[in-house]
Amino acid sequence: MLPIDLKGKKAFIAGVGDDQGYGFAIAKALANAGATLIIGTWTPIFKIFTQSLANGKFDASLKLSNGSLMEFAKVYPLDASFDTPEDVPQEIASNKRYQAHSGYTTTEVAQKMKEDFGTIDYFVHSLANGPEVKKPLLETSRSGYLAAMSASAYSFIALLQQLGPLLSKEGSCISLTYIASERAVPGYGGGMSSAKAALESDVRTLAWEAGRKWGVRVNAISAGPLGSRAARAIGFIDQMIEYSYHNAPLQKELSATEIGSLAAFLLSPLAGAMTGNTVYADNGLHSMGLAVDSPTLQSK
Ligand SMILES: NC(=O)c1ccc[n+]([C@@H]2O[C@H](COP(=O)([O-])OP(=O)(O)OC[C@H]3O[C@@H](n4cnc5c(N)ncnc54)[C@H](O)[C@@H]3O)[C@@H](O)[C@H]2O)c1
Repeated sequence: MLPIDLKGKKAFIAGVGDDQGYGFAIAKALANAGATLIIGTWTPIFKIFTQSLANGKFDASLKLSNGSLMEFAKVYPLDASFDTPEDVPQEIASNKRYQAHSGYTTTEVAQKMKEDFGTIDYFVHSLANGPEVKKPLLETSRSGYLAAMSASAYSFIALLQQLGPLLSKEGSCISLTYIASERAVPGYGGGMSSAKAALESDVRTLAWEAGRKWGVRVNAISAGPLGSRAARAIGFIDQMIEYSYHNAPLQKELSATEIGSLAAFLLSPLAGAMTGNTVYADNGLHSMGLAVDSPTLQSK
């Protein structure tokens, strides 16, 4: 047996707001391996997430392989688009979903984590946001494009800048990306494809810099389509899942659990020689050069 044993390790997962997405599945895999979990939840949904947790709404999904329920040592409100309180525009700070919270910028969350936990071992970046994702790139505004870049790519750099000094010697980080970074995927607009391309490039450069500076590993998972809340907001996720089913080498629906276990492997010492990689976990769809279900292929 080659176990992934993360007992005594602390993992910070940024981007868990319900039980449907990759962040939650990664948290669960890490908990099944024995790690302590620290969560960052987007400020405007913090209240609903923590209330739903307390009310038992997620209990069925929280069940671990040993029968116990996954627990979070701490859930911090986090808005990874802002690094200091001064960065937060007045209209956001005074928005009713932000007003009740403070200390949600990247530097403040890292500071709180330092006070609460001292050090951590793993950092998972499982968040993205593109306000104009439904618009083609050709129709995307400058502010929409920059917002996608800020929330979906720079947020990884900002958090790693802050968390690097807290990461232990065998520390490791991962982010989540999507094939639209390197192939045109109509419908994934608003600069989100550009943000994912930047993110993957940053993974390589950060692997070099964080490797030399802190001995920390940095990788990304290029995941296939999952019907998460974020993906549903884009609007065509069911077609993408079906497309993958019909065209990928492995004809099965991708499960978030598969991304969770890959993440646990990449973070663990089992992947101790891996850094700077973007690893595909998409039933092999990335390797195809042809949509085999295309009606064109059926015609003469
Ligand atoms: N679902 C897919 O098909 C798919 C495929 C490949 C990659 N990914 C990537 O996986 C990651 C997780 O997404 P998911 O699809 O599991 O959806 P998800 O909704 O579970 O996760 C996205 C999270 O990001 C949070 N978020 C948005 N803006 C934020 C901000 N400014 N600060 C902090 N948090 C913020 C949201 O609240 C949400 O909890 C994303 O990077 C996404 O691009 C998803």
